[in-house]
Amino acid sequence: MSTCHALSVASLTALLASGCGGGATTPAPPSPASQPSPTSPAATTAAVLSVRPPTGFGALTYFTQHCARCHGPEGQFWGEKYARDLPLDQLRATVERMAVGPGQAPVDDAPLTALTELTHAIGTKMPYAEVTAIERRGTGWVVDGEAGTEVRVTLEAGGRHYPAKLLDSGWEADLPAESGQTVDVLATKNGRTQRTRWKLP
Ligand code: HEC
Repeated sequence: MSTCHALSVASLTALLASGCGGGATTPAPPSPASQPSPTSPAATTAAVLSVRPPTGFGALTYFTQHCARCHGPEGQFWGEKYARDLPLDQLRATVERMAVGPGQAPVDDAPLTALTELTHAIGTKMPYAEVTAIERRGTGWVVDGEAGTEVRVTLEAGGRHYPAKLLDSGWEADLPAESGQTVDVLATKNGRTQRTRWKLP
């Protein structure tokens, strides 16, 4: 298994931890430029290194509204190396500059984190999925989120898997009440899987 993606997620996590002043306490290591190797195996699962609350945001919707007119839907007009080789603190600063400047839609800290994660995923060609909200439904939870085009989303909680249903606006999945304290979101496309971990309320 390639360590490149695990490393890049580690640095992103550290960056995010320093950026939002939230619960994560990982000290920030120097961020190596993330460089997915062209020869890395098709199936790549990034390590889970942080637990985050639902974003309440929707980075893909935001990107479509404020960034896509120049960078293309989901960054399709980006060059091969675009956003890929930027150290993550610089990527975050660039995304903020873009949001304030050409995007004309400044964002707060937590949305900026989600937008930086999306930008990083686009740049490293990893599938992107985000949990926007988790709410009570009946005795369990309903989890809502966004994901890139053709990304398959599966939730993993309490050792079981729950496929997400696609909606017009994103995806949704039901979890039983006894799922524990966290849920993992597995985003898969073209044999690559990105795993992120989210806090249940
Ligand atoms: C009006 C067109 C325009 C809009 C809208 C726009 N950008 Fe950009 N973006 C550019 C141009 C031109 C560059 C290259 C020059 C520069 O960095 O300023 C760039 C560079 C970038 C880079 C740096 C890539 C690299 O590897 O150096 C990132 C990341 C980025 N944009 C993200 C975004 C995001 C996120 C948004 C939405 C908030 C956005 N951009 C909105 C035109 C735009």
